[in-house]
Amino acid sequence: MRQEIHQTNEVFTPSKPAKKTFIERETVREKLVRALMTPGKQIVVFGHSGVGKSTLLQNKLLQTYEHHITTRCMRGMKFDQIIFDAFSQLDSYYISEKTQKNEIGFKISVEPPKLFTDIKSQFEIHRKSEGQNKLTPIIPPQLTPPTLGKLIGESNACWVIEDFHKIEDGEKHYLSQLMKVFMDLSDDYPSLKIIAIGATNTARQVIDYDPEMKHRVSEIHVPLMTAEEIKSIVVKGEALLNIGFPELFKNLIVQHSAGMASVAHTLCLNICYSANVLETAPSSIKITKKNWDEALLSYIEESSDNIQSSFEKALNQKRKSKFHHEKIIIQALCDFKNGEAGRLDLLQKIQREFPEYPNTGFKQRLEKLSLPEKGRILKFNENSGTFSFYDPIYHAYALAHRRAIFESKENSSISPEVTAFLEALEELLSKNKPAEVE
Ligand SMILES: Nc1ncnc2c1ncn2[C@@H]1O[C@H](COP(=O)(O)OP(=O)(O)OP(=O)(O)O)[C@@H](O)[C@H]1O
Ligand SMILES: [Mg+2]
Repeated sequence: MRQEIHQTNEVFTPSKPAKKTFIERETVREKLVRALMTPGKQIVVFGHSGVGKSTLLQNKLLQTYEHHITTRCMRGMKFDQIIFDAFSQLDSYYISEKTQKNEIGFKISVEPPKLFTDIKSQFEIHRKSEGQNKLTPIIPPQLTPPTLGKLIGESNACWVIEDFHKIEDGEKHYLSQLMKVFMDLSDDYPSLKIIAIGATNTARQVIDYDPEMKHRVSEIHVPLMTAEEIKSIVVKGEALLNIGFPELFKNLIVQHSAGMASVAHTLCLNICYSANVLETAPSSIKITKKNWDEALLSYIEESSDNIQSSFEKALNQKRKSKFHHEKIIIQALCDFKNGEAGRLDLLQKIQREFPEYPNTGFKQRLEKLSLPEKGRILKFNENSGTFSFYDPIYHAYALAHRRAIFESKENSSISPEVTAFLEALEELLSKNKPAEVE
């Protein structure tokens, strides 16, 4: 039987949701599907950036919903823009429904509801009087939350709001009110719901809803991927592209990814490019050490700028204080195996070196270092209750540039040096060599 040909960039997808290598997330699948199928249930999906929230949702929505609309939030976006975005997408739904059904000769009426066309013409009037370029559209008074709910409900869609944590804090409570309205409409429109996604540590950082809504909102935490899950991505990709990764490289990919599917996809894609595999190979190709080395090097080069700017954010001190907390924390964490430690172990280590180092505020400082405004150089591992570097390459950077960063009086990071990086990574890996199984 001839093997189907797949494009490599459709198999390994570091910057878009995975389809061909999609791995079921057993720990969250059932909870998510149950919430999706429960009328009136609103959903908040949260977890680190890159753990697979969008991918999981897209794959599950394909199985449970006829269609959905997705609004992507950006920093500083106002809530009215979100409403406008949802409304605009309904426009294309009603139009495409109409033509599609006409083409295949169905007689069902799919004219947009009158309310919809009325609101649309109100938008047009405003647009003409305000000029084309106005960023925040004026929402016509008819487009109330219940009306938006009804219009989305009529279309049998659900509404996904990506990256809701980026919305200004002052605007967030509107979504909580809108969720309440959507719940109340669920008798008439059982599939109507909002799914808010945020790269945060808790659901409440995505949206702070009223306590009375507690039982009607499902909070779904997407954890870091397990080693087996990451490995399954590689194995699926191998079969699709007709290539073979020696077991050692699979284990190295798992180790480098540290639970982050995005890193695994990047490394695999780089490996394929190095081996010149742009689509399914006609006869099986074995991945070599040279391919792995080149892949890692380009990953480091691609990430250098990001890492430097993350460290800059982390080390930047707004106010001078007795201790440069961030430097002290990062430096202490460097010495733990895998750059990973429990909060109290880390504090003890710091206090051995700085006996006056305060206990108060330590937890908040650690948590802050896992937020985007502080460069997100750390992450909290829910399974083990420990903090670690966001990705082993951050650990390598900290080790490679230790002197320059920690012993300088400056508050900034320094330009990453690829060779120093590679040496540090090699050293890290040799200390923690993955077992060569099978
Ligand atoms: N279940 C999965 N199986 C295979 N690959 C996955 C899976 N989940 C995610 N990925 C891959 O991991 C990467 C990150 O996934 P995704 O964009 O879904 O993460 P995210 O949590 O939505 O991140 P962010 O918060 O930054 O938007 C993508 O390259 C995606 O292809
Ligand atoms: Mg996402």
